[in-house]
Amino acid sequence: MSVLVTGGAGFIGSHTVVELLNAGEKVIIIDNFYNSKPSVLEAIKTITGKDFTFYEIDYLDRKALERVFEENPDIDSVINFAGYKAVGESVKKPIEYYTNNISGALVLLDTMRKYHVKKFVFSSSATVYGEPERIPLTEDCKTGGTTNPYGTTKLFIEQILKDIYASDNSWDIAILRYFNPVGAHESGLIGEEPQGIPNNLMPYIARVAAGTLHELSVFGNDYDTKDGTGVRDYIHVVDLAKGHLKAIEKLNKEKSGLYIYNLGTGVGYSVLDMVKAFEKATGKKVPYKIAPRREGDIATCYSDPKKAKEELGWEATKTLEDMCKDSWHYIEKHMQ
Ligand code: UD1
Repeated sequence: MSVLVTGGAGFIGSHTVVELLNAGEKVIIIDNFYNSKPSVLEAIKTITGKDFTFYEIDYLDRKALERVFEENPDIDSVINFAGYKAVGESVKKPIEYYTNNISGALVLLDTMRKYHVKKFVFSSSATVYGEPERIPLTEDCKTGGTTNPYGTTKLFIEQILKDIYASDNSWDIAILRYFNPVGAHESGLIGEEPQGIPNNLMPYIARVAAGTLHELSVFGNDYDTKDGTGVRDYIHVVDLAKGHLKAIEKLNKEKSGLYIYNLGTGVGYSVLDMVKAFEKATGKKVPYKIAPRREGDIATCYSDPKKAKEELGWEATKTLEDMCKDSWHYIEKHMQ
């Protein structure tokens, strides 16, 4: 039996493929290298010593996707990472985001249905909670109120999956809501590909430490948090990747169902906690200044990860120090 991974050369996709291969799963990757590089595929082979099948295709290309299912009749589950994910870009390019993320997911799901493959794991995000109803966030907290097209694609696809399951409950679906993925594989061979000036905190801190960016702007120090800066649930990408393995195991165990899990640590760190932790773990200085709040930001967002622990037997084990060290290791290897 094989797992089809769309976007398997990307940041979270590549780390998940490593965990799947290490667990002895057969993997088929499709990727169009929109936001990744072919060298990642070699890196996955180096890390795992294992091979996989690869197709360079766009998941919107229905004919090409059908060929993948024709040529690999042993595909029995799909993990979908082939979404665009840049919040700011999504505001400028809503048509591209809705087309790639939503139409892409629909082509994929329709093709799965055609080939009678009904186990599906979807990369969602804590962004679907909008302004948190309460903290820590549990899976039954209200969703909605997303503030950008990227977030709205996640929300809509979750709804599409619920509707598909309601129409045909032989589907077996896991929706994974990621909190703030950071870090890189400890080998330093795969990580988050630097694309221009980062919007997210951790890659920005890493580039300030590397000297390629001058200083960090801390967006607001007047939030109702312990030091006034925003608090988030940062999770090591390898822990996150292992969550996908557990989700696949769960789907293989259950006959059918629709399951939603938060993948986070349950611990919130502030922006200044992150700066200090990064400096301590790497020995580098991270100069910063206090800047105005960023539009659309919330004060505090962290998960209650209990459901994933109870139902998947999964919990994050890597520390903040691991997250900082591994991010830095990757940056050192790839940027200098
Ligand atoms: C953002 C997205 C979220 C996405 C996630 C992916 C928004 C509103 N949300 O979450 O949809 O799933 O990234 O990881 O964009 N910060 C600074 N200076 C910086 C960058 C960030 O102070 O240069 C602060 C932010 O104000 C926030 C924290 O760092 O308090 C984390 O920001 P970021 O890494 O962008 O993640 P989120 O905004 O939580």
